[in-house]
Amino acid sequence: MKARVTIDRDVLIGETHDRLFGAFVEHLGRCVYGGIFEPGHPEADEKGFRQDVLALVRELAPTIMRYPGGNFVSGYNWEDGVGPVEQRPRRLDLAWMSTEPNTFGTNEFIDWCRAANIEPMLAVNLGTRGGDAARNLVEYCNHPSGTHWSDLRRAHGWEQPHEVKFWCLGNEVDGPWQMEHKTAREYGRVATESAKMMKWIDPSLELAACGSSARNMPTFGAWEREVLQHTFDHVEFISLHTYLNDYAGDMPSFLASADLMDSFIEEVVAIADAVAAERRSDKRLMLSFDEWNVWYRTRGKKEGRTVPGWPVAPQILEEVYTMGDALAFGGACISLLNHADRVKAACLAQLVNAIAPIMTETGGPAWRQTIFFPFAQMSNLGRGRVLRARVESPTYSTSYYDPRGAQEHRFTLPEVPYLKCAAVHDADGGFATLFLLNRHLQEDVALEVELRGLGAGSVVSAETLRHDDLSATNTKDAPERVAPAPLPGAALQDGVLRATLPAASWSVIRVK
Ligand code: AHR
Repeated sequence: MKARVTIDRDVLIGETHDRLFGAFVEHLGRCVYGGIFEPGHPEADEKGFRQDVLALVRELAPTIMRYPGGNFVSGYNWEDGVGPVEQRPRRLDLAWMSTEPNTFGTNEFIDWCRAANIEPMLAVNLGTRGGDAARNLVEYCNHPSGTHWSDLRRAHGWEQPHEVKFWCLGNEVDGPWQMEHKTAREYGRVATESAKMMKWIDPSLELAACGSSARNMPTFGAWEREVLQHTFDHVEFISLHTYLNDYAGDMPSFLASADLMDSFIEEVVAIADAVAAERRSDKRLMLSFDEWNVWYRTRGKKEGRTVPGWPVAPQILEEVYTMGDALAFGGACISLLNHADRVKAACLAQLVNAIAPIMTETGGPAWRQTIFFPFAQMSNLGRGRVLRARVESPTYSTSYYDPRGAQEHRFTLPEVPYLKCAAVHDADGGFATLFLLNRHLQEDVALEVELRGLGAGSVVSAETLRHDDLSATNTKDAPERVAPAPLPGAALQDGVLRATLPAASWSVIRVK
């Protein structure tokens, strides 16, 4: 099969923001305890931070980290997680039916972010709590000194303010599974009043209002409009979440499903701009895609996501990702890059163990899941000017089944190009990088890319991620079964790049 791509130095979608390459640490299963934090582990430092995990995090290269939830945040009392560890309360966490020991909290998270050189993104509880707790947390974190909460931070051992800039106003408040789920009006009001107070304390904050927790929520669209009618003047971002699935066991449609993220993004942009137009405002809200990933095997009913007996850090949501998952995931990376003009923050959900690119054994080693690689390549090589890639490729038609949300959906995808592509130009380094997904399960793609105005003369690197078995996984005993390998034969001549993309593969080619 042949496919052709044309990119032009001057045909720009937008510049990537560093925050596009974020991830997420929630108090969920073994993400914190046994994941990033495991005092007593042979690789843990004096703070309990696992250095083997930190080394993989540096390789993965996330830029911003969302914390502490997720569903967890909607019942979280942030005060429980600060101060002397031995005095912190153990609490029932109703999001994941676990016991939360609170031995890791906001200050430990900030220290971990500093060690990892990652910007922190904090979410406030707008489920069981509201504006008062939110403003106190901002004062605790960001006010220098001389007040109750700022001096308490100093007394706890953090003299300097944390200077957290990016804050999420709650989490998935549109979902009935959320503690103190709200209507759009109820949420719009509490988000507005919280935002006002948070910014009165620190005007430099950037705030994200909760959009829909999935495109197939029955309230999608109406939710964004009503929430933004309340919050528009007080926020910079509206959030959206997507988890791709293969519940149907239908690989072509699973690989096509990333294209629904394109539609979702474009619809949220349209609604945000419509609200701006209604207000005669030229303000443009940006999108925070602050949860995205593949997730289905360990999803489903709440009982299937929990372990009886209120355990600490249960082994839940430990999705073991396949080669096929990595392909769908790569498609999501391309969707995000191709909307770099409006998606200015995004978080892979999550980081370690719970639906994560990094897996650990408690007390044992850490390794890379299949989805690790597309993310690391996107973050390390995908920063810069995203060029509009004109793709000419054969197409297929499919439909995608999504049983999540309060209603089932079957989306029709009539013309899915087998080749999905994003192109990023690093003007300073003079590189152009192509991210390429061949969704054909049997046929290679004979690819030609016309590179206009880029002055590229040679291929710097070419790698591909593929496996004969789309169900292949990386495990503790075979941690590198699926890993990128050199893509042979990629060549550039007279401004045209030629390469053969194997069937069912994700490839990254860099030219200069
Ligand atoms: O990332 C796992 C969960 O998915 C989050 O806690 C929640 O926000 C979403 O439903």
